[in-house]
Amino acid sequence: MKKSMMIASFLLVIALAVGCGVAKSDNPGNKPAAQAPAGNTSGGAAGKTGGSATDGVHAEAQKMYQAKCTACHGQDMKGGAGPALMQVGSRYKSADEIKTILMKGKDGMPGGLVSEEEAKKLSDWLMTMK
Ligand code: HEC
Repeated sequence: MKKSMMIASFLLVIALAVGCGVAKSDNPGNKPAAQAPAGNTSGGAAGKTGGSATDGVHAEAQKMYQAKCTACHGQDMKGGAGPALMQVGSRYKSADEIKTILMKGKDGMPGGLVSEEEAKKLSDWLMTMK
């Protein structure tokens, strides 16, 4: 009885060792390749949509500013032909007031440089300049 038990458990150990060896050599080939990229992509995408919705709009506004407003207000918003805009957000109570200036103009400030939708983005962004 005892001898056969020892042989049986000995064989079992060998079987397990071989089994593990086979399992280990299978896993690196299959699982990481199939699972890791999928996990990374969905994680990254979720982070992007969640975190930077406003950042995206502000970046867009900044690009519009660079394209259409720097001639008079300066690359760094310090002004030129037009006034400095670095603290324009504290001069107005709401983004709507700024939007109206962008749409309709005001003295030397030409209106209609941008569409209404663009004016909304620009004024939201300019309101953050305080
Ligand atoms: C042709 C030159 C010119 C261009 C181009 C221009 N502006 Fe102006 N802007 C002015 C002038 C001049 C004023 C001052 C108007 C006044 O006397 O009240 C002004 C005023 C403003 C004001 C009000 C500032 C304050 O302190 O009251 C804002 C906001 C503004 N501009 C934003 C913009 C944006 C955004 C753009 C780009 C879409 C732009 N401007 C393009 C000349 C310009």
